[in-house]
Amino acid sequence: MKALAAFSLIAARLAATSPTGAECLCTYDETCWPSSSDFSQLQGQVSQPLIYPLPTASACYPVSNPSGNCTAVLENSADPIWRASMPGSMEAPNFETFIFKNGTIDACYSNTTLGIPCGQGSVPVIGVDARSPEDIQAAVNFAVNHNLKLVVKNTGHDFMGRSAARGAFVVWTHNMKNITYNSQFVPQGAPSNETYDAITLGAGVQWHEAYDAINRYGRMMVGGASDGGSVGAAGGWILGGGHSALAPTYGLGVDNVVEMTVVLSTGEYLTVNDHQYSDLYWALRGGGGGTYGILTSVTYRTYPSLPVAFYLFEANATSSSAMQDMFTELMHRQVQFSDDGWAGYGSSTNSSMYFFYIAPNMSTAQANATTQGWTDYAQALTSQGISSSALITQFASWYDWYTEVYSSPGQNGMNRMMASRLLSRDTLENGYQDISKVFFDCGASWNLVAGGKVSEIDPDSVGLNPAWRDAIIEALCVVQWPDGTPSQEIHEKVDEVKSLIKAIHDATPNDSAYFNEASLFEVDWQQTFFGSHYAALKTIKDKYDPHRLFIVAEGVGSEDWNTELTCRI
Ligand SMILES: Cc1cc2nc3c(=O)[nH]c(=O)nc-3n(C[C@H](O)[C@H](O)[C@H](O)COP(=O)(O)OP(=O)(O)OC[C@H]3O[C@@H](n4cnc5c(N)ncnc54)[C@H](O)[C@@H]3O)c2cc1C
Ligand SMILES: *[C@@H]1O[C@H](CO)[C@@H](O)[C@H](O)[C@H]1NC(C)=O
Ligand SMILES: *[C@@H]1O[C@H](CO)[C@@H](O)[C@H](O)[C@H]1NC(C)=O
Ligand SMILES: *[C@@H]1O[C@H](CO)[C@@H](O)[C@H](O)[C@H]1NC(C)=O
Ligand SMILES: *[C@@H]1O[C@H](CO)[C@@H](O)[C@H](O)[C@H]1NC(C)=O
Ligand SMILES: *[C@@H]1O[C@H](CO)[C@@H](O)[C@H](O)[C@H]1NC(C)=O
Ligand SMILES: *[C@@H]1O[C@H](CO)[C@@H](O)[C@H](O)[C@H]1NC(C)=O
Ligand SMILES: *[C@@H]1O[C@H](CO)[C@@H](O)[C@H](O)[C@H]1NC(C)=O
Ligand SMILES: *[C@@H]1O[C@H](CO)[C@@H](O)[C@H](O)[C@H]1NC(C)=O
Ligand SMILES: *[C@@H]1O[C@H](CO)[C@@H](O)[C@H](O)[C@H]1NC(C)=O
Ligand SMILES: *[C@@H]1O[C@H](CO)[C@@H](O)[C@H](O)[C@H]1NC(C)=O
Repeated sequence: MKALAAFSLIAARLAATSPTGAECLCTYDETCWPSSSDFSQLQGQVSQPLIYPLPTASACYPVSNPSGNCTAVLENSADPIWRASMPGSMEAPNFETFIFKNGTIDACYSNTTLGIPCGQGSVPVIGVDARSPEDIQAAVNFAVNHNLKLVVKNTGHDFMGRSAARGAFVVWTHNMKNITYNSQFVPQGAPSNETYDAITLGAGVQWHEAYDAINRYGRMMVGGASDGGSVGAAGGWILGGGHSALAPTYGLGVDNVVEMTVVLSTGEYLTVNDHQYSDLYWALRGGGGGTYGILTSVTYRTYPSLPVAFYLFEANATSSSAMQDMFTELMHRQVQFSDDGWAGYGSSTNSSMYFFYIAPNMSTAQANATTQGWTDYAQALTSQGISSSALITQFASWYDWYTEVYSSPGQNGMNRMMASRLLSRDTLENGYQDISKVFFDCGASWNLVAGGKVSEIDPDSVGLNPAWRDAIIEALCVVQWPDGTPSQEIHEKVDEVKSLIKAIHDATPNDSAYFNEASLFEVDWQQTFFGSHYAALKTIKDKYDPHRLFIVAEGVGSEDWNTELTCRI
């Protein structure tokens, strides 16, 4: 019975072919789109009303969204928590837009004086507000039955717009907010003495919620850092790897999972860990979001809360070339910062620089001793027009530090693309000159989130790109543009990103990039994002996603699809 059902579903998917005979998925504007009675049937199987996502700014266009509140859009559109709370809203609004081949942009801009009507762009048109694995099973079965283009959306923070697609059906995981702490967690299928001090997060939990919850138990965990804590704690972040300022101490997100639950395209709901479905469990830890199934929860290890030492460095320069020399030297010294136990974030332009690093459980004396070399080096540059300041302080707990630095929502909601690289120990020790120039010229930011424990873990223990084990920092160049920019200028921005990527590759041919923080234009992305694990990940994807429902840009298996990821090639 089960096998028969699976066979007829595959047959249904093969039946949908494009005029050229290619195997295509069904999108909103086509005659294959399900009827309203099909959708009523789906409605009968899920716990919440079906959702009809709209672009963020639709509220400013009464024709598109008569009940919308434009004041709220104008007030909140830079707030990542607010954006993540809506199924049609992406962190970077460019991923809500769609550019036709002729250059026309279908978009909905919050700037109404541009005089452009509000279009749906790449925002999915209908979907399921999932609250349980059963809701997701119903949604997945429906999508497979009707051969729909499906996307999974959690916070919409993806830097490649993987949580949106034009004319798609969406599974929205945002409201799966369950959090359960268990100091004696036993994975399913494990011997009863295999216990973990662990926290289980539903797929929609965001980092600020996870941190608040675990702090109440006097504990902390490896997680992401962003203004407002808006990144999803159990979606794309962990599936892509999950970096953290605590990673150099405890390993990356993927190194801290003990169990996951997932719904497959077959509708099966699996609990995966080291004892069951260990191949899928391996792939889900770093093999990429939106590729193998829909994660419904993640169980993470937790650690006793520790104090952290904090080092804040700032500098201003009157000379761009003096700044460049300082930046180059700072990159070179990242290995030492890392080996001394530091982790954190920084950013530089041609006239200013700042970075702030933390070290768990480090005394102030040790913090001073390990940073004095850099502080002195910078101070000695006063004669070259560089003024700098350094501050060392202690926070009573990691959570206190996080709250101080990240609790305000910040400024997001910009149209953006990025080029990035994981810089290895070898590059930073021996080949740092050329790559430092590329990143200095783009006004780079960097994340010191690898090295330490990340380097000590067996690269083959999880699906994640082994290159993470050699990395020390991730460096990034971000390209931004305002709403209303014509498509020709956007294409110029794309060319800028492409030439940055080329320069980065030329300077560091043996390094890699992080699947979650990169662009749609990565060179040889299978190698760059997954390295030697690609073939194994593809085999596991084919095994667990027989209906080929889960396809995302530059994700495992996506090379078999067209650019729109709607037709197999
Ligand atoms: C402001 C900001 C700060 C960031 N900080 C960090 C950081 O500190 N560390 C770090 O490692 N990364 C960081 N990132 C990158 C982040 O990891 C990615 O943006 C990631 O894709 C976010 O995942 P999400 O689930 O929140 O977002 P979404 O855009 O909703 O999802 C991302 C991808 O995962 C898929 N997906 C989401 N949920 C599921 C699910 N339940 N099952 C299957 N697939 C799913 C989506 O389909 C999509 O392909 C940051 C990003 C931003 C915008
Ligand atoms: C619209 O949003 C603004 C800002 O968030 C709020 O103050 C106002 O009460 C809202 N208006 C309505 C009608 O909900
Ligand atoms: C571009 O193509 C789209 C989709 O076919 C169409 O709606 C639009 O009118 C075209 N624009 C121009 C300027 O031809
Ligand atoms: C909105 O667009 C108009 C017209 O291009 C422009 O003059 C104005 O600066 C824009 N406003 C904002 C807030 O970007
Ligand atoms: C969430 O937690 C509650 C209480 O522990 C439980 O009853 C419910 O089944 C959980 N929901 C999901 C989707 O796991
Ligand atoms: C669990 O018990 C078994 C058998 O007594 C033992 O071999 C194993 O080492 C124990 N494992 C842990 C994690 O304590
Ligand atoms: C510094 O960068 C700004 C823009 O980021 C640019 O306009 C300026 O020319 C640069 N200055 C030097 C000296 O390179
Ligand atoms: C923190 O430092 C103290 C004092 O050096 C040490 O005793 C303790 O073991 C450390 N804790 C951890 C978890 O590293
Ligand atoms: C480190 O300690 C020395 C000697 O006490 C002091 O002069 C210096 O200011 C300290 N550095 C920082 C960054 O606090
Ligand atoms: C750098 O410049 C900024 C802005 O002018 C100023 O706030 C900051 O104090 C300066 N920092 C240093 C170390 O000179
Ligand atoms: C890249 O790796 C190859 C093979 O290991 C080596 O020959 C080459 O020198 C490396 N290139 C750089 C720039 O490190």
